[in-house]
Amino acid sequence: MRTHYCGLVDESLVDQTISLCGWVNTIRLQSHVAFVDLRDHEGLAQVVIERDNATAFAVAGDIGNEYCLRVTGTLRKRLASNDKLKTGTVELVADTVEILNAAKDLPFAMHENPNEDMRMTYRYLDLRRPEMQQMMRRRIKLVQALRRYLDERGFQDVETPILTKATPEGARDYLVPSRVHPGQFYALPQSPQLFKQILMMAGFDRYYQIARCFRDEDLRADRQPEFTQLDLEFAFVEEKDVQDFVEELIRHVFREVQDVELDASFPRMTWAEAMRRFGSDKPDLRIALELVDIAEAVKHVEFKVFAGPANDANGRVAALRVPGASTLSRKEIDVLTEYVGRYGAKGLAWLKVEDLAKGREGINSPVAKFLDDAALDGVLKATGAQSGDIVFFGAGSWKTVTDFMGALRLKVGKDRGFVENRWAPLWITDFPMFEYDAEEQRYVALHHPFTAPKVDDAAQLRADPHNAVSRGYDMVLNGNEIGGGSIRIHRPEMQSTVFDLLGIGADEAEAKFGFLLKALKFGAPPHGGLAFGIDRIAALMAGTESIRDVIAFPKTTSAQCLMTDAPSTVGVAQLKELHVQVRPEEVSGV
Ligand code: AMO
Ligand code: AMP
Repeated sequence: MRTHYCGLVDESLVDQTISLCGWVNTIRLQSHVAFVDLRDHEGLAQVVIERDNATAFAVAGDIGNEYCLRVTGTLRKRLASNDKLKTGTVELVADTVEILNAAKDLPFAMHENPNEDMRMTYRYLDLRRPEMQQMMRRRIKLVQALRRYLDERGFQDVETPILTKATPEGARDYLVPSRVHPGQFYALPQSPQLFKQILMMAGFDRYYQIARCFRDEDLRADRQPEFTQLDLEFAFVEEKDVQDFVEELIRHVFREVQDVELDASFPRMTWAEAMRRFGSDKPDLRIALELVDIAEAVKHVEFKVFAGPANDANGRVAALRVPGASTLSRKEIDVLTEYVGRYGAKGLAWLKVEDLAKGREGINSPVAKFLDDAALDGVLKATGAQSGDIVFFGAGSWKTVTDFMGALRLKVGKDRGFVENRWAPLWITDFPMFEYDAEEQRYVALHHPFTAPKVDDAAQLRADPHNAVSRGYDMVLNGNEIGGGSIRIHRPEMQSTVFDLLGIGADEAEAKFGFLLKALKFGAPPHGGLAFGIDRIAALMAGTESIRDVIAFPKTTSAQCLMTDAPSTVGVAQLKELHVQVRPEEVSGV
């Protein structure tokens, strides 16, 4: 149908007869001539339809935006070239213009920023937009580069089941009822975790898969109910083997896709240090602001808001110094106070250093009166505050303060232009093995229950689970967790102990993970791995905040596909066949 792509025509084709196919990006109809910008996935070309060509000119009168056309004609050099267009030095003078398909009135203007629900409903139109084409193509290039790198290094690409048994990664499962086994359900995999471990036990040595994962959890800009991982597993390895390999892999794809050279060696930081300095397990190192603990300086003060947590082993009093921000207005501080309130803060104390040399006189703060000279001096020294700075304070339980001061650091960092324009990757290591879930009143695994502890001995782990450190690691890039993994438990006693500490009794462990416990008894090798979130890496590469921009058919934050209208109700007969009964009030419309 066509001889060339719109976006690729150039002066080498001048005077040749060519055919282009594409969509009408814009049309300008004048009395003697019509100009059509014709668009395909490569870009735009200008088509000129002259009035002398009566048949073609008549067609031009009929066409509108997003009509699908085939144009044949002669390419010529433009009198005045358009620098903004790659093909701006040439134009196609139409001999024939065929309407391949008409387009009715568009639901949104393609050149403006349409609202997201519209984009999702008419995703085919949204995806036609050049910026979407570019973002999607970058993702495709990323996946190609990842595959090529791993294929060349002997990694085995093995598919694992989608209809399977629950694999816990901390989210709810999507369930699929079985027709042939009444009352029984498959779970969609939250990740291929157990299958890849079993592939190591089965002697595959090095595995990868571009794997779809399903998690029924609260959705945000960086989370989808189904998403794609690059899943990797290695036999006979320790942490450094996995980390060095995947670090090189990431450097490679950034070079290939992004033309960017990342740090030669990614910094490593323990989880405890990240939480202490940045209030986050995925610190954005592009922002040069840090939290400082000031409990020591305020332990003795009368002010209970500070002294209480400062003297409590589970408390925290942290300060964040923001250089040059003493000009923040009351109103702006109120907005920040409201913001940290969403993370559980009961208040946000602050202190402006208007003139450091003037001592107490030079300080403007509603809490200064509660701080004696020693405390004030201690706080100023600990934070290194200078004239013109503001210092924010968070006090309360360790977890709440860490969370809200971490969130404050990011917000103020972004609002006040502290984000450096660079790539800042790092490793987070030494995670706690377990986290206490106050709601469920039990320990939960911080990674997943198959992650090995640092201690080799099950009895040692049992003696002090609260302080146990795991062999897990996350890769963080610009404040996003792009990958997570660990060295796995490869001995059955240790696996049973971890299940037990997680409150999974022997019977439940047998019912849920009996196959794993059995497999571990037949010479399972030491092994470990990691999974990258491909959507997140693609979004970072494309420079977009939302992974929805790099997923062809994403779901909304309420887990719907607006284009197909999924999920939807099904007929009673189908439900019956699946031995499923829906509560009557919930089947309206069937
Ligand atoms: P984890 O749960 O950390 O580890 O997932 C690995 C990476 O997948 C991405 N990710 C997501 N991306 C989009 N939407 C989501 N809902 C979502 N959830 C996770 C993140 C994350 O770092 N089996 C382990 C890996 C292993 O131990 O090898 C796992 O799934 O970028
Ligand atoms: P109050 O005594 O509650 O009126 O608080 C006095 C100051 O301390 C106000 O500026 C509050 O915003 C601040 N404040 C209250 N609770 C906290 C907290 N948990 N962390 C930090 N600042 C707080």
